[in-house]
Formats: sequence, structure tokens, C-alpha cells
Amino acid sequence: MSILQSKIILLVLVAVGVSATSCRKKEGCTDAKALNYDRKAKADNGTCEYEVTNPTSYSLEIPYTIGKYLPSPYNPEDNPLTEEGIALGRKLFYEKKLSGDNTLSCAGCHKQENAFADPDAFSTGIDGLLGSRSAMPIFNAAWNYSRKFFWDGRALDIEGQALGPVVNPVEMHEIWPNAVAKLQADNEYPALFKGVFGTETIDSMKVVKAIAQFERTLISGNAKFDKYLRGESQLTPSELNGYNIFMDEAGGDCFHCHGSATNPLWTDNKFHNNGLDASPADLGLGAVTGDANDNGKFKTPSLRNLIYTAPYMHDSRFATLDEVINFYSLELKYSPTIDPLMKHVAAGGVQLNPQDRIDLKAFLLTLSDEEFVTNPKFSNPN
Ligand code: HEC
Ligand code: HEC
Repeated sequence: MSILQSKIILLVLVAVGVSATSCRKKEGCTDAKALNYDRKAKADNGTCEYEVTNPTSYSLEIPYTIGKYLPSPYNPEDNPLTEEGIALGRKLFYEKKLSGDNTLSCAGCHKQENAFADPDAFSTGIDGLLGSRSAMPIFNAAWNYSRKFFWDGRALDIEGQALGPVVNPVEMHEIWPNAVAKLQADNEYPALFKGVFGTETIDSMKVVKAIAQFERTLISGNAKFDKYLRGESQLTPSELNGYNIFMDEAGGDCFHCHGSATNPLWTDNKFHNNGLDASPADLGLGAVTGDANDNGKFKTPSLRNLIYTAPYMHDSRFATLDEVINFYSLELKYSPTIDPLMKHVAAGGVQLNPQDRIDLKAFLLTLSDEEFVTNPKFSNPN
């Protein structure tokens, strides 16, 4: 072997060695010494700058019955929906790192199979403490034009709402700087935030914006009653009679607060005292506004998906729909702020006969949307 030949062999060996080392670079941001490797990084300078891809704008798919009768959904200008934002929000909704001991995510209390409510009467936080109100289902929030959230309306917008549970001592019991630091140190989140907001620097506002984007996609509009309105399904005589009772001022008289075929949200999203107690222990809206005229008023819940959202009322006092219907029929209690629409309080309620109660319940169950609670787009992506 000539000297030249051995030099060439040596060079080849060195080259192979170098490329083998570069293959062993760690995943992560690139840096000046090129110790880490990331395909999407812009430069080898340690800045963790990634190629910015503009997020893809997203339009909500609006179900026929909702689109026909309601104005466009509300979306704040500073948080436009994007595919990347929705995907990030979904991941965060299921992210346990947002809680103090990394064990509880939003979805821990808001379960898809329960239309994003909690089947427990009161949810348990990370310290084993119980809250005092029923966890609300989450759907069709983009059509809540008052933009007031929680049973007592204390949060403005779902962005504002999402700030609360992370720090609530009976819920996720974390502080935002810790929650953000955990996401910042994660090997996926910085790049995902960059893809949505153009910067890797995470903060609580961006977290809640992404979560709100995901929540706006939680749309329920394909129950049996929607199919009936689209001419694709028939109602049984019992279900039809139940609907008539619901709509009849001399019957159940439910529609003033709970919607109708032309308000397919099945809630007015307003606050009422529906006569649960002679002396309300939880003041509801009154505790938020400080106005005694608001005492005992709570947000009207939607009647969609009731089959998945038991127990019922802000304090989960009723385990079944039969109990709820009995209450409206016979057990109303007078208090000074009771809604004037609860016209029959003096007689205890709307006095439905047993058959009418059965039919009313049958109608209420036609508002169950199985597609919503099984839609794979809303499940845990992690
Ligand atoms: C420990 C259980 C628990 C966890 C965890 C939790 N929630 Fe809730 N959520 C509740 C309860 C209880 C309520 C009702 C509280 C009230 O009205 O005072 C509620 C209410 C809501 C509402 C209001 C719905 C409406 O129609 O007004 C939204 C939206 C919501 N939660 C989203 C979230 C998000 C987002 C997270 C995660 C950041 C989260 N929740 C974490 C229990 C929980
Ligand atoms: C004056 C307005 C009003 C009228 C009329 C009314 N409701 Fe309600 N409904 C409410 C409010 C407000 C709540 C929540 C009360 C609370 O938790 O403190 C509620 C709660 C409910 C719930 C519990 C839902 C859940 O997710 O917890 C059901 C079911 C219900 N109503 C059905 C009916 C039916 C059926 C009728 C007619 C017989 C009716 N409502 C009439 C305002 C009204």
C-alpha cells in the first residue's frame, strides 16, 4: 500500500467517524457547538429559532340547526381560530402539568363521555378537596353571546374562565409561573407555541387562548331532535307530546329559559332563580354583583346532552331527570328573587300529570348527541 493510498483510507475513516458523531446529536434546539440537532431549527446559534410556518386559519363547522337560527358564533379578534391553535389547546386541555402535582388536567373533571361535565356531584381537586358546585358541561360556548361563564357568570370569555381552575385551591392548585415553567421546559410545547403565536416564550395568556380555541370547537348539534328538524328522523308520539308540553305555557312552560326549535342552544344563557330554595344558601350571581336582587340566580344550563350530565343543578341536588321534573311540577319554593316566569310557584309548580312527566322526559332525551361525546377530534391526543 502506498503512502497516498493509506492517507486516503485514513481520510475516509475520519469522514465516517465525523458523520457518525453528528448522527448522535441530541434532539432539541441547535446551538453554536452543534451539540443538538433539530431539523426545523433555523440556525445553529443556540437561539432555538424555528422556521415560522403561518398557522392555518380554521372555520368552525356549524351544524344545520344552529346555523339556521343563530347569528355567527362569537370569537374575540385577538384570538383567531387556527388548526395549530386548536390542536395545541386540545393537548393543553388534557395536560396534567397544569396542576400542582401533575396529576389533574381540565379533562380530569370535564370528561368527554359526560359531554365535558363531571359525573361526580362535586369534583375532587388535587388535594382531595371537594368543590361546592357541579362541574359544568362544555359545548356550544361560542354562542354564549353574554360571554359570561360559570354558574354565577363571574368569568368573562372562555379565555378568562380558563385562568381560574389552574390556580383554584380546590381544583388544580398550581401557580401560573410554575405551570408555564413546566411547559417551557417540555420538549414539545415551545415549538408548538411558536407555531401558533410566533414565539417560543410561553405565558398564561397564550395557554388560555389556545385552550379557548379548542373549547370553541366543542360543538353539539346532532341530537335526535336536530335530525328531526332536518327531516331525517321521526319522533315517537311520546317525544312529540313531551315537546308540546315543553312549549306550552299552560303545560310545562319550559321554553322561556331553555330554548326551543328556534333556539337550538336549549338555554337562554341568562341568570334566573328557578325556585330551588326558600332561602338560597349559595347566592350565585348575587355574590358576584353584590346586588341582593340577583341572589339565588344561576346560569340556565343547556338541556342538550342531559343523559350524560347527571347529577343536575348547580349543587348536583337531583340525581335523575325524574327528580328534576317532579321539582318543576310540585316542589317549587318561593323566595323574593324567584323568576316571574315561575308562574305556578304558589301551587308548587306546573302540576304535570304522570304521563306528561314521562313524555317530557322522553322529549328531553331526544336532545342527546352521541356523536358529540364520541367524536375522536375531542379525545385525549397525548
Ligand atoms: C377539579 C375539577 C375541575 C377542573 C380540574 C377544571 N374544572 Fe372547569 N369547572 C369545574 C366546576 C366545578 C365548574 C363550575 C364552577 C362554578 O360555576 O363555580 C367548572 C366550570 C367550567 C366552565 C364554565 C362553563 C360554562 O358554561 O360557564 C368552563 C368553560 C371550564 N370549567 C373549563 C375548564 C378548563 C379549561 C379547565 C382547565 C384549565 C378546567 N375547567 C378545569 C370543575 C373543574
Ligand atoms: C325561569 C327560567 C326557567 C324555567 C321556566 C325553567 N328552567 Fe330549568 N333551569 C333554570 C335554571 C336557572 C337552572 C339552573 C338552576 C340552578 O342550578 O340553580 C335550570 C336547571 C334545569 C335542569 C338541570 C340541568 C343541569 O344540567 O343541571 C333541567 C333538566 C331543567 N332545568 C329542565 C327544565 C324543564 C323541564 C322546565 C319546564 C318544566 C324548566 N327547566 C323550566 C331555568 C329555568
